[in-house]
Formats: sequence, C-alpha cells, structure tokens
Amino acid sequence: MSALTELYEEIKNCRQCDIARCRTNAVPGEGAEDADIMFIGEAPGWHEDQQGRPFVGPAGKFLDELLNIIGLKREHVYITNVIKTRPPENRDPLPQEIVNCRPWLDRQIEIIRPKMIVTLGRYSMALFFPGKSIGKIHGTAEKRDDILYYAMYHPAAALHQQSLREIIKADMLKIPQLLSQAKGMPEAKPAPETKQLNLFEG
Ligand code: URA
Repeated sequence: MSALTELYEEIKNCRQCDIARCRTNAVPGEGAEDADIMFIGEAPGWHEDQQGRPFVGPAGKFLDELLNIIGLKREHVYITNVIKTRPPENRDPLPQEIVNCRPWLDRQIEIIRPKMIVTLGRYSMALFFPGKSIGKIHGTAEKRDDILYYAMYHPAAALHQQSLREIIKADMLKIPQLLSQAKGMPEAKPAPETKQLNLFEG
C-alpha cells in the first residue's frame, strides 16, 4: 500500500468530529503522488460526499476548465481540501474541525512534497497566509521552505459572481510561469503561526 493509500484509510476511519456521523464518504483528496502542484479547497460539498472525491460538482467542473487552460488535467495535479468531511447543509467549517483535520493535510504535503501549493478560497488561504485578505493577495505567490504558496479565489466564487471568472482565469494563467521560476525565487519570511482568530478574516 502506498503512503497515500494508507493515509486515506486513516482519514476514512477518523471520527474525531461529530460531522463524521453524517457523511456518506470521507473525501481525502486525489491526484498524482508526485504532483508538482497541490490545490487545496475548503470542504467537500454534496457531490463530493456522494462520490468520496474532491471537486466533482459544479465548482469542480470550473476547476477542470481552469486546469485545462494551462494544459493540465486533474490526474497531473493533487487536489484536496482543508477538511475531509462535508459539513451539514454545506455550512462553513468550524475552527475545531479545521484544527482536527490539519494533521491529514500536513501529511499529504509531506508525502507529495509539491513545488507549489495553490490555496482556493479564504479557509485554505488562512492556513498558509494567516491574517491576509483574499481580495489583496489573490494571484500572488510567496516561497517558504522551498514551496511556492499561491492564493486564488475559490472556483465556486465565480459561480455566484460572474465578474470573478476572468480574474480567476487570469490568476490560473500565471501558474506555469511562477512554477518555472520558483527555483530562483528568494524565500519569504516564515508565515506567522495560524491563530484561531484570524481563520475567518478577509
Ligand atoms: N468546494 C470545495 O472547497 N471543495 C470541494 O471538494 C468541492 C467544492
């Protein structure tokens, strides 16, 4: 069993949060174990819960389209979420759920060792760019510990707000060049520790 498959088994058996009782499937993540780029969304929705796969609903269709414009398919990248279980009625993830799920995400990053982590939406951004606002930092990257962190709006935002569609596409189009320049980029200062309080800012 690969390290990722083993991790998926652990995630599927995790009952740390109450929401585990309501799920159809846990949604650990999927994609290439040696992916250069890891996309991190917020939480599974109804479609994801049904299938046990990340980004397979309407937001996922747009993510596929975004990948396509830079010549990638989902199997070339790794896709996961901040939390691995659908919150009931698609409510926002609770701070404690984010804390409980964090070790799974950290282990995914350790196993995959991506060159670039793309945060999709503010929950994911808050983990890697604490205290920052998505409106200010979307489309910008920071290198820390040899990983390029890049913030984007959540694809679902474009489904509610058409004007974001082109902004999200433009941010996606920057990824190939950033990735190719990543090696020569200077390291940024370490991000401050994520605090509970600033998870919901911006
Ligand atoms: N939105 C997310 O943040 N993640 C998914 O997997 C699907 C929708």
